[in-house]
Amino acid sequence: MIGALSIIDQTQLPGSLCIINLENAEQVYAAICNLQVRGAPAIGIAAAFGLYLAMRFSFAKDKATFLFELTQKQRYLCSSRPTAVNLSWALARLKQAVINCSTQNIETLKEVLLIEAQAIEKEDAACCRAIGLYGLSLLNDGDSLLTHCNAGHLATAAFGTALAPIYCGLEQGLELKVYCGETRPLLQGARLTAYELKNAGVDVTLLCDNMSASLMAAGKIDSVWVGADRIALNGDTANKTGTLALAVLAHYYNVPFYVCAPYSTLDTVASSGAEIVIEQREPAEVTEMWFKERIAPPDITVYNPAFDITPVELISAIITDQGIRYY
Ligand code: MRU
Repeated sequence: MIGALSIIDQTQLPGSLCIINLENAEQVYAAICNLQVRGAPAIGIAAAFGLYLAMRFSFAKDKATFLFELTQKQRYLCSSRPTAVNLSWALARLKQAVINCSTQNIETLKEVLLIEAQAIEKEDAACCRAIGLYGLSLLNDGDSLLTHCNAGHLATAAFGTALAPIYCGLEQGLELKVYCGETRPLLQGARLTAYELKNAGVDVTLLCDNMSASLMAAGKIDSVWVGADRIALNGDTANKTGTLALAVLAHYYNVPFYVCAPYSTLDTVASSGAEIVIEQREPAEVTEMWFKERIAPPDITVYNPAFDITPVELISAIITDQGIRYY
């Protein structure tokens, strides 16, 4: 039995490295909504432990009641964020593990939930390394890369998806230069990617999102690397808002555009990006959250989608733990 899920509160970075303990499903739900834990694989893992925490003190007397309660909590945790498929995938996997062990007693089923959550975390770490090594085969010593949002250590169980090839390159002594877009409005690039790459000793330069066009026009980017929250069957990819703009630019300037993700990010149902639900977030994230004073007029209408969809024709290749698929 574990008492709590310990996470780094990502909303406090880079100012302070604050570890918080989440003890029940409600706390895990809130941490996912508030982006204290974020990044598609990380929220899948957190939700899996959240489901275990929700069920560990269940008073259900029979297995049908246990499964009913589990399904309620699964739906609740799944509703914390709509776009990353890893969330529903991880929760469904825990439920299936319980169903597969339905001859066991309820105390054993609680342990099954914990074991499955731990397995998801362990597998994600292995995925990161596999993605890193496949991605590394697309890099050359001396390359300059552009990345968006945070698809590194903080977003996964190990060293990330889009940042994994950079970390693998570092291990092998490659000299790589990384440009990191700040990623408005929540600044995952400025706060998180800049922080973790700098700490790892990577040559990293931060820029505002609207500066990437001039960087590409100047021929300073060899390839663009992003993560994904959901990849539809045709390869259309939902990722942090601003990814589509980078893909259009990369296409115009003939720069390879790479998407990295574990298998848990592949949606087995959505046939194209048109079927992916995009999360809309609070206007305050745009108008005042990072400023001493509100910067926008009161009552201004705000457009704040958390993700956008990059059509597959703008993607050069998708790199998963299973290999590289070129488009
Ligand atoms: O809103 P966020 O910060 O959870 O968005 C994260 C991203 O868009 C990442 O690129 C994606 O989840 C991949 S993380 C390996």
